[in-house]
Amino acid sequence: HQDHECFDDNSLTELLASLPKEKGWSSPHLYLYNGFWCPPAHLPGIISANRHFEAQDTDIILATLPKSGTTWLKALVFAITRRQHYALSQHPLLTSNPHDLVPFLHNSIKSSGCRIVHLCRNPHDTFISGWHFFKKARPDDLGPLSLEEAFDMYCRGVFGYGPFWDHLLGYWKESLERPDKVLFLKYEDLKRDTLVHVKRLAAFMGVPFSAEEEREGLIKEISRLCSFSNLKELEVNKTGRSTPFVENKAFFRRGEVGDSVNHLTPEMVELLNKVIEEKLGGSALTF
Ligand code: A3P
Repeated sequence: HQDHECFDDNSLTELLASLPKEKGWSSPHLYLYNGFWCPPAHLPGIISANRHFEAQDTDIILATLPKSGTTWLKALVFAITRRQHYALSQHPLLTSNPHDLVPFLHNSIKSSGCRIVHLCRNPHDTFISGWHFFKKARPDDLGPLSLEEAFDMYCRGVFGYGPFWDHLLGYWKESLERPDKVLFLKYEDLKRDTLVHVKRLAAFMGVPFSAEEEREGLIKEISRLCSFSNLKELEVNKTGRSTPFVENKAFFRRGEVGDSVNHLTPEMVELLNKVIEEKLGGSALTF
């Protein structure tokens, strides 16, 4: 969606001037557009996609908050859906970063019959992953962003495509109402029981693994191809750059569950737990 011709610089300036704004993580500001905090550089794409993009029933859309495992999900979905096309030994994932194989689409998809895979991650780890990532993505002239300041922003919902609770609840509710169209996955489950969830993911996308594929170990091989330890060590992900603002290696930090305890004080953990309880407590969504 490079086609932003309908949205020139003047209309962008005008729009930005009319929106609530807060200090950003890797841009000077984030802007509240349709209830979500968006980086200004993404807005023309978001608006263009809102105006022009029509999902087909056969489309599969991946939905994630930043730092919830988007890169992993892109790799898995690409490997699963294209498994007839590529031998694992000469797979595009061995030489391309997942973001080059599955493009970003900053959009909301309403009334089509397409399938949506949502991957979420516990908010503590998402925050810590985001803090590390945006420190790298943040231009020097914006100055440093302290953990404390970032934490305060996150708890107030000011995070790309946040508030995280509204983002999660939207997909959570849709997944309960339309389970055949919206799959709600958790990073922690995918990490703990990768094979079970990769199998589930394939079935949801309409490309279930056959008994023969399962016997041959294909689920295991695809999971291994897309694993953190494998992707992180590939040359393209060690030295390449797929986006202008960060190197590919920034997308592969630790890939673990629970790393946030190494960075958050017990008070911060408690405070974020309170936010989670207040915002998500009424739902059955837990972490
Ligand atoms: P950490 O910073 O906790 O290590 P996103 O892809 O949405 O930007 O999320 C990035 C997070 O997912 C990072 O978390 C990153 O290390 C982790 N990640 C990337 N690839 C992964 C993979 N194949 N398996 C598990 N985690 C992965």
